[in-house]
Amino acid sequence: MKKSCGLRGYYLCLINMFMLLLVARSQLTSDFYSSSCPNLSKIVRREVQKALMNEMRMAASLLRLHFHDCFVNGCDGSILLDGGDDAEKSAIPNLNSVRGYEVVDTIKSSVESACNGVVSCADILAIAARDSVLLSGGPSWKVLLGRRDGTLSNGTLANSALPAPFDPLDTIIAKFTDVGLNLTDVVSLSGAHTIGRARCTFFSNRLSNFSGTGAPDTTLDTAMLSDLQSLCQNGDGNATAVLDRNSSDLFDNHYFKNLVSGKGLLSSDQILFSSDEANSTSKPLVESYINNSGLFFGDFVNSMIKMGNINPKTGSNGEIRKNCRVINS
Ligand code: HEM
Ligand SMILES: *[C@@H]1O[C@H](CO)[C@@H](O)[C@H](O)[C@H]1NC(C)=O
Ligand SMILES: *[C@@H]1O[C@H](CO)[C@@H](O)[C@H](O)[C@H]1NC(C)=O
Ligand SMILES: *[C@@H]1O[C@H](CO)[C@@H](O)[C@H](O)[C@H]1NC(C)=O
Ligand SMILES: *[C@@H]1O[C@H](CO)[C@@H](O)[C@H](O)[C@H]1NC(C)=O
Ligand SMILES: *[C@@H]1O[C@H](CO)[C@@H](O)[C@H](O)[C@H]1NC(C)=O
Ligand SMILES: *[C@@H]1O[C@H](CO)[C@@H](O)[C@H](O)[C@H]1NC(C)=O
Ligand SMILES: *[C@@H]1O[C@H](CO)[C@@H](O)[C@H](O)[C@H]1NC(C)=O
Ligand SMILES: *[C@@H]1O[C@H](CO)[C@@H](O)[C@H](O)[C@H]1NC(C)=O
Repeated sequence: MKKSCGLRGYYLCLINMFMLLLVARSQLTSDFYSSSCPNLSKIVRREVQKALMNEMRMAASLLRLHFHDCFVNGCDGSILLDGGDDAEKSAIPNLNSVRGYEVVDTIKSSVESACNGVVSCADILAIAARDSVLLSGGPSWKVLLGRRDGTLSNGTLANSALPAPFDPLDTIIAKFTDVGLNLTDVVSLSGAHTIGRARCTFFSNRLSNFSGTGAPDTTLDTAMLSDLQSLCQNGDGNATAVLDRNSSDLFDNHYFKNLVSGKGLLSSDQILFSSDEANSTSKPLVESYINNSGLFFGDFVNSMIKMGNINPKTGSNGEIRKNCRVINS
């Protein structure tokens, strides 16, 4: 470094170092394990397939795991770590909410039997998310690999970095911007809510006295409103409704069609179309996906790859965890 960093070349050198950093930050490759674990994608696919045969909803749960991993300290498997006073697992968006940890354990042990100590838990989440989308009828893509696992689980950060269903649109956009994702990513990735379920806890505020108005959320379809009111009436915050009433297990663009007819489940879904802020931000994108599922699929794939690239640990950072729940001793 010193030799190439003489006074004359100082600025050029700074620029070079900066570019090296940029390259080091994004050195994931699709063939990362091609010699160290050639059967990796087959193994993960088989395990995800088995899990979905047991419960189709698991596709949604695995997709969400990757998202919640990536938004907190980057895609480093940190959400999988057990224990600690301030674990990500115990943060509000995750506790009694994120599912699929046992399935990840099963995938990891199959991968370990074939290639011991080679494949990170963070990469397993990225592949499982892709397979979940594909096996639900959605698009496929080449997953970029080479992430290493983090050693820190930060529940405080999870609480502040993950978008909440009660957040206004500008807050949601800001939380995506904070991790390098833009408006297109907000809208296309929200389309993940074409599969899976949500608990009353996260939408019952819309069903009565919404934001202190004394009435339910006026942007919610009235037939859907009464269905949800009866689902949640006994106060069971854990009762679940499907996120896409039209096709809850199928990865399609119906999520966006729902928004146009007031059938988004979460407030954070419906505001992409119905809020005043949406007119000049997300609404045109929602409209573009309604009649063009190819555009949605293409944007979703690009956004998933971008999300999978959030702050990956590479080189000598992090570790290849042996057990996804605990850091190596
Ligand atoms: C835009 C901001 C987002 C908010 C506010 C949000 C919020 C939520 C909430 C509250 C739930 C229900 C959790 C529960 O009931 O326990 C949920 C479920 C889900 N989310 Fe999101 N989410 C967002 C973006 C995303 C993204 C970017 C993805 C993936 C790319 C995603 C994938 C999912 C999936 C698949 C489910 C269903 C999970 C299951 O059934 O187990 N979400 N989300
Ligand atoms: C990959 O799987 C095939 C069978 O599907 C097996 O014959 C081969 O030995 C496996 N390769 C490695 C490196 O584990
Ligand atoms: C966890 O995240 C919070 C909020 O960003 C930060 O203030 C804190 O330093 C982090 N804790 C650790 C151990 O990194
Ligand atoms: C978001 O970023 C992608 C490239 O990653 C770009 O194609 C797209 O136009 C951007 N969208 C907005 C709204 O800036
Ligand atoms: C609705 O909420 C507001 C503010 O939280 C409260 O003042 C009002 O009494 C509530 N109205 C009803 C009908 O519960
Ligand atoms: C939901 O279930 C969890 C775990 O069984 C329980 O601890 C929690 O109190 C329940 N939450 C609500 C709102 O009913
Ligand atoms: C889903 O939407 C399609 C087209 O709008 C409609 O034909 C179909 O009946 C709907 N399915 C359900 C379960 O609502
Ligand atoms: C947004 O669009 C809707 C429907 O076109 C309109 O009623 C509303 O006034 C618009 N809001 C703003 C802030 O432009
Ligand atoms: C989508 O297509 C339907 C009919 O196929 C049409 O009525 C509607 O205006 C179109 N919407 C947009 C946003 O292009």
